[in-house]
Amino acid sequence: MNFSNQLIYWYLQNNRELPWRKTKNPYFIWLSEIMLQQTRVNQGLSYYLTFTKEFPTVFDLANASESKVLKLWQGLGYYSRARNLHFSAKQVVNDYQGEFPSTYDEIKKLKGVGDYTASAISSICFNEPQAVVDGNVYRVLSRYFGIKTPINSTKGIKEFKELAQTLIDVSQPGTFNQAIMDFGALHCKPQNPLCDTCIFNSSCIALKEQSIKDLPVKEKKVKVKKRYFNYLVLVSEENETVMLERTGKGIWQGLYEFPLIEATKSINLTELRSHPELINWMETAKEITVYNEKEIVHKLSHQHLYTTFWIVKPTKIKPQKIKWSQVHQLPVPILIANFLKEFNPINGYF
Ligand code: ADE
Repeated sequence: MNFSNQLIYWYLQNNRELPWRKTKNPYFIWLSEIMLQQTRVNQGLSYYLTFTKEFPTVFDLANASESKVLKLWQGLGYYSRARNLHFSAKQVVNDYQGEFPSTYDEIKKLKGVGDYTASAISSICFNEPQAVVDGNVYRVLSRYFGIKTPINSTKGIKEFKELAQTLIDVSQPGTFNQAIMDFGALHCKPQNPLCDTCIFNSSCIALKEQSIKDLPVKEKKVKVKKRYFNYLVLVSEENETVMLERTGKGIWQGLYEFPLIEATKSINLTELRSHPELINWMETAKEITVYNEKEIVHKLSHQHLYTTFWIVKPTKIKPQKIKWSQVHQLPVPILIANFLKEFNPINGYF
């Protein structure tokens, strides 16, 4: 028996009896699938029963007040989902005369419906072979096939969808989809999966490689820090400027840059003028003009540098001055090199 047949065989003996499994009404399936993205099956059950009782048809939901919908959604969280649900019910009534769309592509056009929900509804209700990929599916497939691609990476999302698509039983796609989700929820569980009694224990790669605990792999998303760099490009009458070596750990150690004022947000000329660090660079207030009106965003792996170059005419220049003609000899970060490619201190001088 192949993977799909084994799975369906397991499902026929082990599936959970759930109210939305007794219907193929796409409106009910849609409600259940949106709710189950919020919560586990057990908790979702009471919300499903309330919604289908209060709003037995898509017309009832569309005609309800938003506050009633939100009230009944209370406790599920992510209220934008409830608003989208309400909005989409009106879409179904207005654009489809209350007849729920019947293809993956049409269903996906509804607000709040993504690949997962469109696949679930189109496969369960309309037998369209669209594989669902939820957390359970990622877990089952990554373990069974020993796939280490992070499930939250662009590559992983594509790879798992394509794999699921090759496995789906086209004669009963809805059953296959629910079988793999149930198998993940009940058997191939995140913690303490039931490998001893698993139907796949002779073919599961992760079990063979003892990597069950390590799969699926999830990429830690690095939080990108936004930094606001204001470079003071000093242009003296003697054609001098100031470039400083970056010391300390951090980025660009040992490279040279213009005097930098780092702010916590984008700043304008007035804010720059009143910045306490500016005083260090000029004895008295001088002419300052902005070189790039629109910030240059320089992207590093963990930080995005929102950069503004300010052309500054000083009366006195600090001792670290160098001639503009020497600037090109200094090692500089690409951000500065790009600026220097464009900037001509003669033209830039005012
Ligand atoms: N989780 C979300 N929807 C499901 C479904 N239709 N069957 C099993 N588990 C699910």
